[in-house]
Formats: sequence, structure tokens, C-alpha cells
Amino acid sequence: NTSEENSGNLKKQLAKLFEASLRETVPSKHDVEPLVAACTAKFGDYQCNNAMSLWSKIKGKNTDFKGPPAVGQAIMKNLPPSEMIESCSVAGPGFVNVVLSKTWLAEKIQNMLVDGIDTWAPKFSIKRAVVDFSSPNIAKEMHVGHLRSTIIGDTLARMLEFSKVDVLRRNHVGDWGTQFGMLIEFLFEKFPNFEDVNERAIGDLQAFYKASKQRFDTDSAFKERAQKAVVCLQGGEPKYRQAWAQICDISRKEFDKVYQRLGVHLEEKGESFYNPFIPGLIEGLSNKGLVQESEGARVIFIEGINIPLIVVKSDGGYNYASTDLAALWYRLNEDKAEWIIYVTDVGQQQHFDMVFKAAKRAGWLPAGDCMFPKASHVGFGLVLGDDGKRFRTRATEVVRLVDLLDEAKTRSKAALVERGKAEEWTEEELEQTAEAIGYGAIKYADLKNNRLTNYTFNYDQMLNDKGNTAVYLLYAHARICSIIRKSGKDIEELKKTGVLVLAHPDERALGLHLLQFAETVEEACTNLLPNVLCEYLYNLSEYFTKFYSNCQVVGSAEETSRLLLCEATAVVMRKCFFLLGIVPVYKI
Ligand code: ARG
Repeated sequence: NTSEENSGNLKKQLAKLFEASLRETVPSKHDVEPLVAACTAKFGDYQCNNAMSLWSKIKGKNTDFKGPPAVGQAIMKNLPPSEMIESCSVAGPGFVNVVLSKTWLAEKIQNMLVDGIDTWAPKFSIKRAVVDFSSPNIAKEMHVGHLRSTIIGDTLARMLEFSKVDVLRRNHVGDWGTQFGMLIEFLFEKFPNFEDVNERAIGDLQAFYKASKQRFDTDSAFKERAQKAVVCLQGGEPKYRQAWAQICDISRKEFDKVYQRLGVHLEEKGESFYNPFIPGLIEGLSNKGLVQESEGARVIFIEGINIPLIVVKSDGGYNYASTDLAALWYRLNEDKAEWIIYVTDVGQQQHFDMVFKAAKRAGWLPAGDCMFPKASHVGFGLVLGDDGKRFRTRATEVVRLVDLLDEAKTRSKAALVERGKAEEWTEEELEQTAEAIGYGAIKYADLKNNRLTNYTFNYDQMLNDKGNTAVYLLYAHARICSIIRKSGKDIEELKKTGVLVLAHPDERALGLHLLQFAETVEEACTNLLPNVLCEYLYNLSEYFTKFYSNCQVVGSAEETSRLLLCEATAVVMRKCFFLLGIVPVYKI
């Protein structure tokens, strides 16, 4: 398979070799999957772990092997010759350890420098995916949960896009539902000329929401009007549609401010979009015998879950679940997406579990979890304050995201000013660097944790220039750029004429780690875990530091090769930043 050979994925390339060897070693078990993993111990770079399980399959059945170590020996012997392997050995119960060839590794890195890092992108069999992320609710404030969804979803979308998957970045905003009755009615009341109302007149949309809710809860006449308004809106009455559109628009402008600062692009297809599809779908599901009556509502029972999925409420209205069923159907059949990824807090896990299972019952999705088309819920934990409780500010209950971003930027700017950058740089450079660092810090602090865990939001920690932070990593990258700059050499020229050699052990370790970029992105993307890429990036900076403190670059006999290694590190770091949605800086 040539595409595999050309990709940078070391693990897969080795797996191919071992696959051939396994077939040769035990022809009767030709379907054994090669188990190849990076070595943790110092016996080699990678290891094939098939011998033991293979032995258990063949022992007792006329075999010449005397035990797992002998199977390991044979696996080693039958490996097809390959330039990538320098040496092999068998350890313990048949582990086959592989030491990769330094020359081969160096050549691959140099090829990447010439052909570009996109040659190391993962290859997926699917063509199109939907990433449903951010998805705040209209007229309500975007909260830190939505911030997490925005940051995580953007990274996943970027990784898939890098892998040449066509990604539909969907903002499934909450723009439908009964709360709009009260909002519309309140708008009519406050602004008789509601057509002219803009965001300035309404001011804080969240306060507007609160006030209308209070009115709804305390005034029964208002409540009645609000309920009628819902019916008018859903019936498509122009005046109501217009008021609704206006409220959505004001909200959208608020959301866009956050997206713009974060550099995140989304395409809005809110709940309202799917509404027209619901009745037909429910009917289809009913005809298949999937929908049952229960306490006046219409529900789908899901095996193994004691509460049913309500698809039509007892008042005849639709809900979050009916909308999500319609959206899933649409994404599969109209968008033709093969992988549909939902990024929300873990609290919604059961909801998605039920929706996906209902879709499997309906035959929309295959029964297994491994096959495409596939739906995945990407859950994440809470953001905590220093008090260990849900992150809030004192003045208001929720934290305004723009304030958060402002604060991070202000702080990172202050740190730059303190380091004398206000005199050294233009105002524009100062602003851009402060933003890159401030927003990068927020993103990285979120992404570096396994998404399922809660994490504490702490400016001092995330903006620390030491430790596993965006600031540290951005500085590390800028330093590498300055090494190359100060060498006075034309790096583009060196890429063509120079030769990269991995002679010193620290050069080799860095080189190997660089080449593990491809399998890391593939793993992060396949398992939907951005923290895997963060960990890789942090380790990369550690390998670089070790190399740089033990190997002189500028002025040494190995200068050309080492500058190329610096450049390769910078290129890979930048790609990691890009995939994490962090803007690199070049000067510090
Ligand atoms: N609007 C929802 C919320 O704020 C998130 C929507 C997630 N996407 C979905 N298809 N249900 O919690």
C-alpha cells in the first residue's frame, strides 16, 4: 500500500512489515492483527507484541514452536527486509523490539522539510464529517461550558480537516422552543416599534431574558400571551417570525465577537432549521413500530435504559430530543456525513446515548460502534474556580466570555510590557502577541487535560512562562526561530543542499519524536482526545531543550544538519499550534 508508505505514520508502516511476517510465521492464522506499540523501555523504538497471544492460539496443534520466545524469534526472522529497520531483538516472552535506522529517520525528516508537513497528515477512509460544537442558546449568555465546546470542537475539526476530511462545522444554536414566546412578547411590550430595535437598545440580552422570565413567572396574563406567541411563531406568522429573527440576530452578534477573537469559524444551523423535518420523521419511526404512547407523550424505548426518549411531549410539542433525531437524520441523509461528532458537557451523555441508540433501532446507523457512518459524543467536564466549585464571578452568576478573553489579554500584555516590549515593538506587534499568548493560554489550559476531567481556571497558572503552558511552548518555538534567524543562514537553501544527520543520541531522540507526529495526530483524532496532541507538543519541547543544551548548533561542525533539525522542530510545533487553534509568535 503506497499511500501508507508515504504517510509519516511509523507505527502503521511497521505494522505492515509485521503483518507480512505474521502471515509467513503462522500461515494458518493469516488474519492476526499486528500489535505494534512504541517501546517504553530502552530495548528499542517499537515493539511487536503478538508472540504470546499467537502462541496460545497454536499450542497443542501440531506446531514446531516450543513456546512464545520461539514464536518471537520466527516473527523477527520473517520480517521482510526494510530500510527503516536498523536492528531487531527478541526479549522476554517473545517481544520483538525494533531499533529504527537513523539514516532512514533523518531522510524522512528531510523529505518532510522539502515536501511539507501535510505529507504527514493522517489518512481516513471517510470523506465528510459533521462537528456539532459551541452551540449556545439564543438570548442566553454563552458560558464557560460553551467556551470548552468551542475550543475542543474547533481542534477536532482542525485535525479532521488536516486529514483531508470535509468538515461541516455546525453551530446547533438553541433558537427554537417555548422560551421564544416570552421573549417575543416582552420585545413587543418594551419596544412597540420592535422592527427598529438593535443590540444597543436591548443592551444586555441576558438581562432582557431574565426580565422577561420574571414577567412570565409572575404575571399570568403575560404568560398567556407568551404561550399564544409560541403558537403564532410556530405557525409562521410574519410579525412573530420577524421578532424572533431579530432576537436571534442580536444574540448572533454577541456570539460572533467571541468566535472572532478565538479565530473559530462555525456555520450556524440551529434547532429551528430541523423543525420542519420532525413530523415526517416521527411518522416514519411510528410506522416502523418504534414510537409508543406513554403518559400522553410519544416515546421511544431504548434497551438497557430505564427512561424512554420522549419525542413528542404530552402537549404535542417537540423537544430537544426530537430536534436531535431530525438533525441526525439530516446530517446522515442530506449532508451525507459519515462521522457526526457532538461536543457538549458530559451531562448530556445520556441524551446522546439515547438518540444514537434510537437511530440504530431505526436502522439509520449500523448497530456496531466501529463502523461508519458513526455518531460520537465528545463529553467534557466542568470548569472550576479556585474554590473548587463551578466557575463563576462574584457579580453575575455566569462568567462573560468576552471578559475572560479580555482579562487574559490584558494580563499577557502587562507581562510583555514589564519585559520592556513596549519600547522594543510596535503597538501592533504588542497587541498581536498579547492576544496570541492570552487566547492561546486559555485554549491550551483547556485542551491539555483529558476533556472528561474538570479543571480549574486560573490565570496565574495558564499564563506562567514555565511548565506545561501555552506561554512556555510559544516561547520555546520563538526561541527556535531566533536560533535559525541569528545563524544568518538561508534555511530554504539549506533544505535543498544540506544533509540532516541524527548522530548524537539527543538528536536521534528528537528526530524520532518528530516522526511520531503523524501517529499522534491520528490517535488524537481517532479517539477525539486533543490532550494527546498537547502532551506530544510538550514532550517535543522537552526533547528539543535536551538536544539544544547538549548539542551546539551555531558555529559547530554539524551546524547545517542541526539547523535543519531546529527547523523541523519549529515546523512540527507550528502545525501542533495550528491544530490546537493557537497562533504562533516569532519574537519574544
Ligand atoms: N444548545 C445546547 C446547550 O447549550 C447544546 C447543543 C448541542 N448540540 C446538539 N445537537 N444537541 O447545552
